[in-house]
Amino acid sequence: DALKSLKVNKKRLMKDLHHTCQWGTGKRWGKAETETGMTRLALSDSDKQARDWFVKTTEDLGCKVTVDEMGNIFAVRPGLKNDKPATFAGSHLDTQPTGGRYDGILGVHAGIEMIKVLNENWIETEYPVGVVNWTNEEGARFPMSMSSSGVWAGSIPLAAAHNLREVHPGTATMAEELSRIGYLGSVAASHEATLMAAHFELHIEQGPLLEMANKKVGVVIGVQAYKWLTVNVKGRDTHTGTTDLKSRADALLAASKMILHSHRLATAHNALASTGILNLKPGSTNTVPGDVSFSLDIRAPADETVASVLALVQQDFPKIAAGENLSGLNDGGTPSLPCTVSITEDFDSPATTFHASCIDAVTRAAQRVLGPDGKSLTMEMTSGAGHDSVYTSKRCPTSMIFIPCREGMSHNPEEFCKEEDCAIGAEVLLHSVLRFDRM
Ligand code: GLV
Ligand code: MN
Ligand code: MN
Ligand code: MN
Repeated sequence: DALKSLKVNKKRLMKDLHHTCQWGTGKRWGKAETETGMTRLALSDSDKQARDWFVKTTEDLGCKVTVDEMGNIFAVRPGLKNDKPATFAGSHLDTQPTGGRYDGILGVHAGIEMIKVLNENWIETEYPVGVVNWTNEEGARFPMSMSSSGVWAGSIPLAAAHNLREVHPGTATMAEELSRIGYLGSVAASHEATLMAAHFELHIEQGPLLEMANKKVGVVIGVQAYKWLTVNVKGRDTHTGTTDLKSRADALLAASKMILHSHRLATAHNALASTGILNLKPGSTNTVPGDVSFSLDIRAPADETVASVLALVQQDFPKIAAGENLSGLNDGGTPSLPCTVSITEDFDSPATTFHASCIDAVTRAAQRVLGPDGKSLTMEMTSGAGHDSVYTSKRCPTSMIFIPCREGMSHNPEEFCKEEDCAIGAEVLLHSVLRFDRM
């Protein structure tokens, strides 16, 4: 039937995407503008401009738009029957400080393109369909990834998210910024206030597997587990020139050993450990830093693996602080004064398994879009990155669609996806939603 042959408009999809990327192609933390890169931190002025475009565009397309207390924006296109909630396509418009044009952004634009295709073909779906833009998915500005789908799902308390303070420069809270840009909505941020029949998310893979295997579509069956910690190491500030090694408590040296050690622990468990934030005080060339804090992001496919690495981190970091040589760094055997360490568990995203009927809808949609070669151009995979779909999956059937990106690169201004691949992904999204609507 007519539904089966629906195509997305590739030119329009890409034109819209690059149009909204005018907001946030600015200077990022001291670096020059690049052709492709994006700096659109959550709830910044450029995020507001992209949001305003999203609201106006979806309203003009006939959608009813609501905004919740986390600034999540839901645009719903009515169906023939409206006694069931909408099936949503969604992702995020915010980016990393040195992000690209596809991470998140593509999934939102593909949802809007879906509405455009339905409208221009005069298609009435059985039930409503919608597009959602989730707030602060990146957790780059307010340090909790997927914070606002997390509140929607009831996994993160509203107050905890509202009180999150920006990483740089550390003045504004999320509630203040929501209010400042006019996106502190009146609808409760809850899956009960905004029901979803299902959630489908198109996203770039952000890794190299699809490209290496020459596949066009990843059918995502789940997401690996992760945990974010803040580690604070306390030593003492002393003069760099006059304080011999025995008399120092160098918090940065201890922190460095901890970071190396965490990497070793993770590798031994087939896990990943990464530090992306490092702060040292007082920050002076001729003072040994006495106060250092750093982030630690631990990831692995299984919850138990993350828990094992965490347990070892908790066991070993105090020993390293006290001066035990666990990192393998050759100190020349000079004992320094001990430091102390405290570890805060900030955030935790258990391993996620997506819903069988959504996975099936994506698999079949991919076969339809890719034609006779569909099977050989598709593969099932687990996501290494977190996504809002982690939280929606707790409250409604959910799954994701991945497309390849160049060299698997993401969270980088050079992030790139071919237009053709973006269009394939958007078309698989469209057909996944249509299939689910009929299920
Ligand atoms: C969230 O996007 C994450 O994977 O850090
Ligand atoms: Mn993303
Ligand atoms: Mn991202
Ligand atoms: Mn992400």
